[in-house]
Amino acid sequence: MNILIVGTGYVGTTTGLIFCEMGHKVTGLDLDEHKIRSLQEGNLYFYEPGLEELLKKHIQAQNIAFTNQTEKAIKENDVIFICVGTPKGTDGNADLTFVRKAAESIGQNINTYKVIVTKSTVPVGTVELVTGWIQSKQTAQIPFDVVSNPEFLREGSALQDALNPDRIVIGTESEAARTIMKELYKNFHCPIVETNPKASEMIKYASNSFLALKISYINELSRLCDELGINVNDVSQGIGLDPRIGPQFLRAGMGYGGSCFPKDVNALIQIANEKGRPMTILERVVKVNEEQPLYFIDKIKDALGGELKNKTIAVLGLAFKANTDDTRESPSITLIDRLLEEQANIKVHDPIVNLWPHQCRTVENTISGADAIVICTDWEEYKRINWGNLKPLMKQPYIFDGRNMLEKVQMENLGFYYIGIANY
Ligand code: UDX
Repeated sequence: MNILIVGTGYVGTTTGLIFCEMGHKVTGLDLDEHKIRSLQEGNLYFYEPGLEELLKKHIQAQNIAFTNQTEKAIKENDVIFICVGTPKGTDGNADLTFVRKAAESIGQNINTYKVIVTKSTVPVGTVELVTGWIQSKQTAQIPFDVVSNPEFLREGSALQDALNPDRIVIGTESEAARTIMKELYKNFHCPIVETNPKASEMIKYASNSFLALKISYINELSRLCDELGINVNDVSQGIGLDPRIGPQFLRAGMGYGGSCFPKDVNALIQIANEKGRPMTILERVVKVNEEQPLYFIDKIKDALGGELKNKTIAVLGLAFKANTDDTRESPSITLIDRLLEEQANIKVHDPIVNLWPHQCRTVENTISGADAIVICTDWEEYKRINWGNLKPLMKQPYIFDGRNMLEKVQMENLGFYYIGIANY
């Protein structure tokens, strides 16, 4: 099948390449010429493990091409995936400006029956809106169907997630569109949830909000565990072995970040409020998440004698989690802002992210002369560091592990003062 992907960001590019892997021909459409040129040359302009190799492979095999020619791209394809950004609007709701633009240009250029698929995370009711936006620009009555088919990709493992999904959700009332969608996904071996568009849209928000809830649950519990001297990792393991709870998303840390969880939880809260059915449980999820980096700062401050002024703090990790260069809503940034407010001197390292010109290139440079290290991102390379060798470089051997990725006993044996998140 000939597939058009509108919006060649991380969701669009990954989705397009996965369809190439499944034997389809794909066109990526984006108005940003810079992105198009970069992708057409086989260069991924964002960091995602394994994706660039796949991009080069399918460009060479001519399975994927990138363009900014909207009219031609729409006319020549029968299935169109809308993968444009849906950033958080000023009111907490998702901003649908780019979705609307994509829908309107489909309406202007539609020439044969097409299936239009919303892949970006969008509020409940967006399929209806997209249908209306397309119709509003149509000059002839050419039939089309709009389908909701949310993505569940995680940054850093997008390729594996997209190739081996847990489930595929198809939300449509149209038999014809459902048949086409099932044909598209016929080589995937996972359950397909067939439902209507609204339920499909809700599944995405409900799923991400539930995962955020698990994280805030364990994070709030970790504060109590800290008070009681209980290792929260043991508690996570103990409760996670119950299959009704499950082991994932129970890692206590500095809180969730990224482009999805904060945006999606807020959007669901917003929808619930608009409908007069507040999701108060999610309001707490957000609050706990906002508190978590501040809670950790308080621990750092207490351990360092109640003052951070003029203390040199080495912050390891800027990305909101490992294996991504994304710093959106990263707890690390919240922590840095707060440390600056407290007039601490800050040195920063991240293996991939480069935010400031004066950022340190190596962990050694970052921690030299530091009063304390704060680990904010669970990069594998921080686990492999020979900490014993680095300790003499520090002014004071304090290490604050905001991701519970190191062993307390081991670090103490090396002579560090180690403080994690209820990590004993
Ligand atoms: C998420 C969803 O997992 C994905 O299905 C959805 O489509 C997009 O949003 P992503 O934002 O890439 O993916 O990151 P994810 O791996 O889910 O982690 C989200 C955040 O939760 C990160 O900040 C991570 O550090 C944090 N986290 C995760 C924890 O603090 N503890 C955990 O146990 C798990």
